[in-house]
Amino acid sequence: MLVAPSILSADFGKLAEDVKAICKGGCDFVHVDVMDGHFVPNLTIGPVVVEAVSKAATKPLDIHLMVENNSFFVDLFAPLKPEFISFHIEEEKHPHRLVQKIRGLGIRPAITLNPHTPPEAIEFLLGDIDMVLLMSVNPGFGGQKFIASVIERAQRLKVLIEKRNPQCLIEVDGGVNDQNVKALKAAGVDVVVAGSFVYKHPEGIETAISALK
Ligand code: DX5
Ligand code: ZN
Repeated sequence: MLVAPSILSADFGKLAEDVKAICKGGCDFVHVDVMDGHFVPNLTIGPVVVEAVSKAATKPLDIHLMVENNSFFVDLFAPLKPEFISFHIEEEKHPHRLVQKIRGLGIRPAITLNPHTPPEAIEFLLGDIDMVLLMSVNPGFGGQKFIASVIERAQRLKVLIEKRNPQCLIEVDGGVNDQNVKALKAAGVDVVVAGSFVYKHPEGIETAISALK
């Protein structure tokens, strides 16, 4: 299992240190939650802070946009050269066009689905993207309860991916811990995002990351 800790659960008073700790602790990607206070009822960080994160990180960035005006935010973050930028399908009128734009900027495009959105909604985009991010909580906050129906969505998505683009990764975000990670793996999930489990683990970040792996 690849692990992408979410820095939303980090201590922003010592952000660089907390980013270095997950990289040293064996993570695969640094998951960055960008919220605009419109698409979701919370507001997080912009390119100034994410630039500091990217300087501290020794692993590639996985930027999860939870915003209106996706295209504008893609332009803001593209100069930081993240590995992935994902946007919510529920908030995009022209997802195919935006995928081409992200790819054209040299970034791997990914699409995020809210807990109620069926995988079939993006069947005809799978051939053009490198990852699907399935939300297992309502986007907006860390530390929420895992919504178990994501397992069935992952299984259904896996079937579509095998048919349309077997290289495409499946990522799950929200409420992931050492209890539900096995079921996610069995359902075909490649990458888990974990915020509170990693940053608040009583035995530390490295133990938390290896437990998920
Ligand atoms: C929620 C974010 C998640 C969140 C995960 O909108 O996308 O990345 O921070 O945090 P946990 O693992 O605590 O649910
Ligand atoms: Zn996220």
